[in-house]
Amino acid sequence: MGAMPLALVTGASKGIGAAIARALAPTHQLLLGGRDADALATFAKELPDAKPLAVDLTDPDAVATAVAGIDALDVLVHSAGVAPLGRIEDADREAWQRNFDVNVLAVVELTRLLLPALRAASGNVVLINSGAGYNARPGWAPYAASKFALRAFGDALRAEESSLRVTSVHPGRTDTAMQERIIAGEGREYRASDFLRPESVAQAVLSAVTAGDDAHVTEVSIRPR
Ligand SMILES: NC(=O)c1ccc[n+]([C@@H]2O[C@H](COP(=O)([O-])OP(=O)(O)OC[C@H]3O[C@@H](n4cnc5c(N)ncnc54)[C@H](OP(=O)(O)O)[C@@H]3O)[C@@H](O)[C@H]2O)c1
Repeated sequence: MGAMPLALVTGASKGIGAAIARALAPTHQLLLGGRDADALATFAKELPDAKPLAVDLTDPDAVATAVAGIDALDVLVHSAGVAPLGRIEDADREAWQRNFDVNVLAVVELTRLLLPALRAASGNVVLINSGAGYNARPGWAPYAASKFALRAFGDALRAEESSLRVTSVHPGRTDTAMQERIIAGEGREYRASDFLRPESVAQAVLSAVTAGDDAHVTEVSIRPR
């Protein structure tokens, strides 16, 4: 039996990224992205064939060093993200900068560095976007603008790189630490059962990357029922 395909999942330390790593683990070798090396090493031990890839994605030199040895990559899942929110009259430059640094520029740079490895494997790129990548609601401009930009990046990548499959995944509110912070910011009580489970988003990702060779799952929108 040949080696299992290799997948790199950013934001794998928690939330949606951790669920995606668990869903891919039975059929993929994994590289687990995140910043906390100890937490990633502990998580890696739970999975059949996983290694930590601890790096701050907003540090381009560190990212280049971290991925330098990857020659062929079957799956690249971008799940790392942040969501500083605020109305336009309140959100400062720092809030906009954080959203764009992590949600857009880090994704662009990591993808660019890994393009030769992705082409070598005719690989899959999965962009964890958001409902906010389609709709900009009051109070959400800095995050929504970054996710609109991420959708544009995905569309252009799909058009330029015909050997790759590029899937834009748009979950609604999902039960993670990010959502807990958002609900706290809205001054509401957190009820996990109101939200999607991270495993449901992971299931959609698994389905996209294991689709038959004839099929290209370009966009997936998932809402809580
Ligand atoms: N939760 C929702 O309701 C929801 C809905 C729609 C879309 N999304 C999107 O889903 C994705 C995952 O969100 P989540 O809810 O799972 O968030 P989360 O629980 O807060 O996890 C975020 C992940 O991103 C990583 N990360 C953040 N900044 C990073 C950086 N500079 N370098 C490296 N890693 C970094 C974190 O790693 P460390 O902290 O370990 O470094 C963590 O693993 C995001 O793109 C988010 O926009 C979430």
